[in-house]
Amino acid sequence: MNIRAILPDIFYVGVNDREKHRFESLWPLPHGVSYNSYIVRSHKTALIDSVEVRESLTLFSHLDEVLGGTEIDYLVVNHMEPDHSGSIPLLAAKYPEMKIVGNKQTVAMIGGFYGITDQERFVTVCDGDKLDLGEITLRFLMTPMVHWPETMMTFAEERRILFTGDAFGTFGALNGGIIDFETDTALYLEEAYRYYSNIVGKYGKFVQRTIEKTAPLAPEFICPTHGPIWHESIAEISAIYDRLSRYHSEPGTTIVYGSMYGNTEAMAEAIAMALAARGEKRIRIHNAGKDSLSHIISDAFRYDGLIVGAPTYSMTLFPPVDTFMKAMQTRETQNKVLGLFSSFTWASAAGKALEGYAEAMGLQVAAKTEMKQGINNEIRADIEKFADSFMSELHKSRYARLR
Ligand code: FEO
Repeated sequence: MNIRAILPDIFYVGVNDREKHRFESLWPLPHGVSYNSYIVRSHKTALIDSVEVRESLTLFSHLDEVLGGTEIDYLVVNHMEPDHSGSIPLLAAKYPEMKIVGNKQTVAMIGGFYGITDQERFVTVCDGDKLDLGEITLRFLMTPMVHWPETMMTFAEERRILFTGDAFGTFGALNGGIIDFETDTALYLEEAYRYYSNIVGKYGKFVQRTIEKTAPLAPEFICPTHGPIWHESIAEISAIYDRLSRYHSEPGTTIVYGSMYGNTEAMAEAIAMALAARGEKRIRIHNAGKDSLSHIISDAFRYDGLIVGAPTYSMTLFPPVDTFMKAMQTRETQNKVLGLFSSFTWASAAGKALEGYAEAMGLQVAAKTEMKQGINNEIRADIEKFADSFMSELHKSRYARLR
């Protein structure tokens, strides 16, 4: 039973999912994921967000335990992605008097996804609207595109608890502890990079607006829809979201390469050694043909240096590297010191394709090199020059950030 009183009248009633292999059928879940729901209980009772439809029975058992068979007056829908809205039709049937609280777009999506269109069932709210539960007032804040257009947050004013939807969320099922001080947060803070970059990465400017909007509330608890409740570590999780949404990276270099027979890989290894020889210690190397896109994107978001290399494949960019670059373009990647390397056997195409992505993202190329067929002393000498140029730009960029 994952039930935890956060305060005497506010309960965690969410569920863990340790079965699903990939979130959104895309992103690996080696540590599982939680879908967080909360009960706010005063004269009236509100359930904040629901869970994936397959986890509905577990949610219901938690609700029965906490509520002892009493009714839910309101279901507040902060976010409509089905990992949080999948249980709505079953909840609506179980609690026929329950009103569903959301904004205009929420109401339209509930009609579209679940066929619930009876307007009598809805309480439609706008930014700043309040719902009086008795001794607790819920205030609604519209936070569009964090992560869908209808997303909003709910603030329990008298308790200073902010229910944030996907924002400040992270991968990882909860391992007994529900609130950050009850658990080892290292795993969740580490996974926050992957969660942010994979799921929310495209919406940096909206996350920034949300941070500006919610910071003055100075919540004592941040209750996201995934991962632990933040109390002692609010500053840490907020800093990660703030930094990543500004595209501000940590010192380090991610090298992403594709290679069919090891020739382009030899360039990646030589580049890594040349960077290490120039003092770059934190280097993460990913083989795009083998490593999960999820972890590659996460490191590429996290660190300020990015070097990408690929062979030419049927006169195109080697497909796994193309997928990676497309993902970075989709996420409107900024503020990277970029290096590019490429190879070909008889006709060159990969280098130009990589430069095309750089141009589309508005990123300057700090260093580039190209190899025909296999590595030799001429290429090795070129890689030394590549490393000089790349590290010079990286140092300039880091120095500029310190000022
Ligand atoms: Fe956890 Fe955007 O859903």
